[in-house]
Amino acid sequence: MSAILPPSDRLWYKHPIDRVEGTWLAIALVWCLILFFMMVGWHIWGKQNLSTETYRTTPDKFMAKAQAVVDKYTVRTETDEKIPVVAPPPGSDVYLLGRLWSFWPILELEKGKTYRLHITAMDYNHGLSLQPANINIQLVPGFEHVVTVTPNQSGTYGLVCNEYCGIGHHRMVSRLYVK
Ligand code: CUA
Repeated sequence: MSAILPPSDRLWYKHPIDRVEGTWLAIALVWCLILFFMMVGWHIWGKQNLSTETYRTTPDKFMAKAQAVVDKYTVRTETDEKIPVVAPPPGSDVYLLGRLWSFWPILELEKGKTYRLHITAMDYNHGLSLQPANINIQLVPGFEHVVTVTPNQSGTYGLVCNEYCGIGHHRMVSRLYVK
């Protein structure tokens, strides 16, 4: 039998499984199971797999909460767009949103303190890539992700949108301070 001519016995599923084929099927199955359980393991022991909570939200609802924190804890503004720099108290809920084509506000966190970071997108899908920590999250409109973060290194981090979101995508960058 060859691949060029039609098989004499067309009922391929009635052919006995070759030993080599059976062995590979077994190897593939075992490997699938290993990878499946590693996904669980990565969440427990991995350093870059964030266990996020997700809630439904709307841009209005999210904006109201973010605005309240910005009104209360803004310490200064930065850049030509006068983006507020917010230094919320440790342990509190902090809000960060992405929209065409900026992040808002700029956060200033304290090293070693834990925050609940709420993130969303106001219009279309955006990305939130934290550099150089190489943490990468999607911002999805209609959904509020809550990430529990404890910055362990002080410095100025870069935020980059890494979901293509239109003509201004390349300049959708911001920063995050850890003191
Ligand atoms: Cu926002 Cu790309």
